[in-house]
Amino acid sequence: MAEDLSIVSGNKEEQYQNIIPQIKGLLEGETDLVANLANVVAALKEQFGWFWVGFYLVKNNELVLAPFQGPVACTRIRKGRGVCGSSWEQQKTLIVPDVETFPGHIACSSLSKSEIVVPVIRNGEVIGVLDVDADTTDQFDETDQQYLEQIIALIPFN
Ligand code: SME
Repeated sequence: MAEDLSIVSGNKEEQYQNIIPQIKGLLEGETDLVANLANVVAALKEQFGWFWVGFYLVKNNELVLAPFQGPVACTRIRKGRGVCGSSWEQQKTLIVPDVETFPGHIACSSLSKSEIVVPVIRNGEVIGVLDVDADTTDQFDETDQQYLEQIIALIPFN
């Protein structure tokens, strides 16, 4: 396992291409889910400096807060609620350029301005989501979607 991350500046694509092999290294040989989720969000936070990045996991038909980096956040989200609950319900990645325009957006922090939520789907079921928030509008696009989906696919969720 890598002990230190190497962080690069550059465009989004270059940043993802730098961090993905390091995330693979962090996950290698570790089977504990909390340990793996914790290192994935820490690596993403260090590389991108996003306002908030974290997981919610489905437990008893609710999303429950899991490893994250950033300010304290809402602990439980129901299906269909907010961006996270909508991504769960629709089983797809949601990109929100301006959270103020998303009906039902859950504002854990008033500083969050744009957001991307990627569902974790295993055997056709959503078992959690990765939520990333930025403190400026318009921060996320299809490049983020593509790479974040790729990162999620690397994580052993069993
Ligand atoms: N904004 C999210 C809630 C989670 S926090 O941003 C960490 C939502 O609308 O689902």
